[in-house]
Amino acid sequence: MKPAKLNAVTGAFGYTGRYIARKLLTLGEPVFTLTSNPHREDPFTGQVRVFPYNFDDPDALSASLAGVNTLYNTYWVRFNYRGVTFERAVENSHTLINAAAQAGVKRFVHISVSNPGPDLDLPYFRGKWLVEQAVIESGISFGIIRPTLIFGLEDILLNNIAYLLRRSPIFPIPGAGVYQIQPIYAQDLAEIAVQAGGSTENLVLDAAGPEILSYKEMIKLIAEKIDSHSRLIHMSPNLALILVKLLNIALQDVLLTCDELQGLMADLLVTSSPPLATTSFSSWLDQNSHLLGKKYASELRRHFRI
Ligand SMILES: NC(=O)c1ccc[n+]([C@@H]2O[C@H](COP(=O)([O-])OP(=O)(O)OC[C@H]3O[C@@H](n4cnc5c(N)ncnc54)[C@H](OP(=O)(O)O)[C@@H]3O)[C@@H](O)[C@H]2O)c1
Repeated sequence: MKPAKLNAVTGAFGYTGRYIARKLLTLGEPVFTLTSNPHREDPFTGQVRVFPYNFDDPDALSASLAGVNTLYNTYWVRFNYRGVTFERAVENSHTLINAAAQAGVKRFVHISVSNPGPDLDLPYFRGKWLVEQAVIESGISFGIIRPTLIFGLEDILLNNIAYLLRRSPIFPIPGAGVYQIQPIYAQDLAEIAVQAGGSTENLVLDAAGPEILSYKEMIKLIAEKIDSHSRLIHMSPNLALILVKLLNIALQDVLLTCDELQGLMADLLVTSSPPLATTSFSSWLDQNSHLLGKKYASELRRHFRI
């Protein structure tokens, strides 16, 4: 029997990387991970070896990638905070891509985002575009996957929408709430990524689910499924952001950024490509809404241990 090929998944103990690692393990393929926090709880009970990213030591990073056939990269940051900036994340991504090339990694599957672009005034989406270019220019065979909003029980944003809908008497709808979202299930995304890992073709794929909802429809749907009594109130995006800032103070977190709201309102979380994923957000909610928003999920606790 041929030995299984070695995979590296960045962030395998995090959110999306966890689904990708789980899929690979189910297929009997060996996996190790690179992470920002090697001491976090291991959901795979020791099956996945752990290395730090070592962005400051490219030789060590490259050495940790020796023998890897396919690298699945989920590394990115949500916002600038305490020296962890988008600029730094682009630099770190370059370091990772160069280390992979130096280590002789055969295939690079990169999780990007829907609708990245060089001219966008949104550093998250512009940075993702820059990293895509670095992957394309690396000389490594690549699969670039561009997901919209990724849903799953570990997702911070949807969980916290449900958390607020369960507790708050009002819930803000910035503007008319008609901007669209085409969410993709994390497990479907992992399948698309692993399929792209098995291909030798250079690919750039939009990854979206079968259902397109307006923001307001999505909030209404979550509210209905969790039996929320919260009143949805339309307000200007600026007022909604002031409210979010107050909530940030109360919850000691960053709930939503101005850039994230702008990206959402610019319809960047919807694609014009045919959907590659099959799980609809509403059918997933039917099964999982009872678990959503029971506890607050803190981005700062997850990534900055605050
Ligand atoms: N979540 C979504 O809805 C969504 C939508 C579209 C695209 N994406 C893209 O999908 C990929 C995975 O997203 P995810 O939400 O699943 O991310 P995640 O698991 O929370 O993080 C992915 C990786 O980035 C590292 N990381 C994240 N924030 C960091 C910070 N502030 N400082 C240092 N390291 C940090 C994580 O470190 P640890 O190993 O320590 O966890 C992990 O290795 C990202 O490239 C993201 O841009 C996500």
